[in-house]
Amino acid sequence: MTPDDVAEQIIALFRRRGDDLYGGEQVSQTEHAVQCAMAADQAGVPDSLVVATLLHDVGHLLQSVGEDAAERGIDAVHEQLGAEWLEMWFGPEVTEPIRLHVPAKRYLCAVEPDYLAGLSRASLTSLRVQGGPMSAKERAAFEDVPFCAEAVMLRRFDDVGKVKGMPIRSIADYHDRIAAQVRRV
Ligand SMILES: [Fe+2]
Repeated sequence: MTPDDVAEQIIALFRRRGDDLYGGEQVSQTEHAVQCAMAADQAGVPDSLVVATLLHDVGHLLQSVGEDAAERGIDAVHEQLGAEWLEMWFGPEVTEPIRLHVPAKRYLCAVEPDYLAGLSRASLTSLRVQGGPMSAKERAAFEDVPFCAEAVMLRRFDDVGKVKGMPIRSIADYHDRIAAQVRRV
């Protein structure tokens, strides 16, 4: 397998499953992924974090618990599933912000009251099954975890990628940048 094959396999997964709705929101999984990656690009972050942002919810595409899982009180742990799958090919600069993007939400809810107030309804619902805002002890532990700052940045891109009908780039436009991040094949 070459880095190009890895990129193609990931893009094929989006083509197959990316039209599913993004849990409780008005956009598809692919629209959400690309909108978030576009926000990351606008912020000028390194390509590793743009690719992590694009792929942060790939775990949702790999599982089939249904897009209303959170409403049914199920925590599908998509961040773990996605990070573990991507570990086959990518380094921690891609996988760890993905693994940590749900803890990052719980962290931001604890440190920024405005952040909690600004969450979408679906995101508030999933927060409940994800454990709610972090305690002081959990916050301190999170701040010591490698790539926690990148995870917090990813989280903010995640929150803006929910705009219905926004013109977006094609997922295939990211092929070369996904391939360039591959560390093992
Ligand atoms: Fe997301």
